[in-house]
Amino acid sequence: MKTITKGEAGIFYDFVQPELAVEWSKIADKVGKEEDAWWPDVDDTLSLGNSYYRDMKAERIQLYHAGAQKTNEIYTKHLFDFKIAMVEGLSLLRHPDNPNTELPGIPRRSKLPGPNGEAYWVDLGIHCVTRESRGGDQPHGDYEGLEPYPHLMFSEDTISFSMVLCLNCPPEGGGLKCWPGRKLGNILDDGVEELLLTTTPEHFHYKPGSLAIFDSFRFHQVQKAKLTEAYPVRMVGVMHALYWELPIPHFEYWF
Ligand SMILES: [Fe+2]
Repeated sequence: MKTITKGEAGIFYDFVQPELAVEWSKIADKVGKEEDAWWPDVDDTLSLGNSYYRDMKAERIQLYHAGAQKTNEIYTKHLFDFKIAMVEGLSLLRHPDNPNTELPGIPRRSKLPGPNGEAYWVDLGIHCVTRESRGGDQPHGDYEGLEPYPHLMFSEDTISFSMVLCLNCPPEGGGLKCWPGRKLGNILDDGVEELLLTTTPEHFHYKPGSLAIFDSFRFHQVQKAKLTEAYPVRMVGVMHALYWELPIPHFEYWF
């Protein structure tokens, strides 16, 4: 089976059954309304519960940590099968030196708990673009989640992945462009424009049930979705993963 390692990107169509993915999007819609858990992000897109990078951008990082426990409970209670599917996605990640070895996933909440074992980190989550929100974004690397270990943003050795499971989306737009080459966090102004102008991005088209995985240091851009009355939302599940060698090789994951 195809797997993903450092520097790579790929998409796994029918990672879950499309009907099941759409069903999860409907549950998310309902639960978010019932629990008043859809948070508007800075670009008017929505997150079901708290998201580290979105709450950081909205300057409410304290609310992320305050709401992490409740967010995890929402997914465990209402979207447990979705949660299992996202965690199963970790089985596709590989260390480049051990392409045949599947590694365990460990949630960041259990690695960085509060003094009394509180969960201050969310395991995984869902983002939603609606007809009212702007959607799409600028080309960027996903560095925010490395903030607890800032030196890893600047290390060639860092192995970090972003995982996106499409739950519901229109047939046109809403996919992902992903440029080749890794960019460390401290060379943002060095050669990025050249990278975007002189290299050809891979273009992943999202369909319900597809799982896209890419090296978080690769520049990428969410494409604007063509939302219509028949296809009013673009909803995706998201999780991030970071490789650690010790105490045993594993992938730490969070949202
Ligand atoms: Fe991103």
